[in-house]
Amino acid sequence: MHRMTLRRFLAAGLATATLASVFGVAIAQDAGTPAETLSVEEARAARSPFMRQNGMLLRDASRASGDEAVAAMTSLRDNYLRLPTLFPEGSHGDGSDALPAIWENWDAFVAIAESGAEAAQQAIDAAEAGDAAAYQEAVRAVSGTCAQCHQQFRS
Ligand code: HEC
Repeated sequence: MHRMTLRRFLAAGLATATLASVFGVAIAQDAGTPAETLSVEEARAARSPFMRQNGMLLRDASRASGDEAVAAMTSLRDNYLRLPTLFPEGSHGDGSDALPAIWENWDAFVAIAESGAEAAQQAIDAAEAGDAAAYQEAVRAVSGTCAQCHQQFRS
């Protein structure tokens, strides 16, 4: 596929997926499903297994292609969309490495998670299109968001 064509294809796919996820949330709320709310204690306890799972998904994804790649990156994308709910305000301290900077710069924190979800979506689209180079590039972009967030928001 020509490079520009592929870029447009990825951009269109991403826009569709973003819309779908927005509608997904809207539908879930209309159906009376409450948005996920975790207590400070629940959130702190959930983070370690959550973050470790992300590391494993990323490792699996970096070696995968095709359906396996799509599956790993879909889980990672959904985790990234969920990530902010694991950080209710004030859930630092008590052995947690989360920094208070998270809530002082909440928009920046959420923006990193969103950019990771977008990169994961690009990886899904590239895996579905069978474009190995675009896939690896998108996986690297997701991987970059781990350090980007940790540098700013983890002690
Ligand atoms: C938007 C911010 C953000 C992103 C993105 C993020 N992390 Fe984290 N991560 C944190 C914070 C904050 C903590 C500290 C949580 C705590 O100690 O309560 C953490 C903790 C961790 C830990 C330590 C868990 C433990 O056992 O205590 C690991 C491992 C980790 N992250 C891996 C990853 C990997 C791998 C990625 C990328 C796939 C990633 N994280 C993406 C914010 C982020």
